[in-house]
Amino acid sequence: MAFTYAQYEQSAACIWEKLNGFTPRVALILGSGLGSLGDRVEDAVAVPYGDVPRFRESTAPGHRGRLVFGTLAGQRVAVMQGRVHHYEGRSYEEVVYPLRVLRLLGCDTLVVTNAAGCANPDWNAGDLMLISDQIKLFSESPLRGENLPEFGPRFPDCSHLYSPRLREIARAAAREEGIALREGVYFYCYGPQFETPAEVRAARLLGGDAVGMSTAPEVIAAVHCGMEVLGFSLLSNMAAGLQAHPLTEREVLEAGEAAQERFARLVLGCLERLA
Ligand code: HPA
Repeated sequence: MAFTYAQYEQSAACIWEKLNGFTPRVALILGSGLGSLGDRVEDAVAVPYGDVPRFRESTAPGHRGRLVFGTLAGQRVAVMQGRVHHYEGRSYEEVVYPLRVLRLLGCDTLVVTNAAGCANPDWNAGDLMLISDQIKLFSESPLRGENLPEFGPRFPDCSHLYSPRLREIARAAAREEGIALREGVYFYCYGPQFETPAEVRAARLLGGDAVGMSTAPEVIAAVHCGMEVLGFSLLSNMAAGLQAHPLTEREVLEAGEAAQERFARLVLGCLERLA
């Protein structure tokens, strides 16, 4: 199924009616167990995904399924508390739909977060990683099908998906907040099954530092429609084969809880420093 530009505009108009003239500038997507930052938004207007045409409900654990508009660390934000994943049975076009609507509402910057497995054996579970680049080789593009030129070009450049300027801001924020920050490549995997140890070794050989089931489609769509992107992974666990015990979703959510405060300080520090 292909969405038309008019459908995106209709969804944006539906949200716009609830915002009393507020225009968001920074879109935030909060991943597994990291959603509570959305509760700190001031003068918040919450819009459940179910109230917006063509927004899909998130069925993933730890994903609240609503937009929160308001002010966070001095920035006008639109927070996605939870996201939809391809593994939930949604097309990539559906996965990136809300993001494109936020673009129409005025967002020119995306801060995207996720929980991911750590594929780098020199790092540790619980580390925070600034995403420098991504690998999404084995699955179709969210831009597949007819191009909507109102959003961007048919063949967008992906040399700098994750903005060098924003990464510099993130490094400075981490330094000044005293937060240790890794920097590396996010390797996208379909899910919902966690990877096999052989897949993790392959991801590592190909240049991945983290493995995860989200983010990469949204970032492609965001850059396509002209947004500047900053991305963070919470390395919630060592990836398969790098830790002795089997992986569980509970472990991922608990790691999110444990990192919540540190992670919030990092993201808020970045928002404060955005020009
Ligand atoms: N693999 C994929 N996605 C994940 C993982 C993982 O190990 N941990 C959290 N999200």
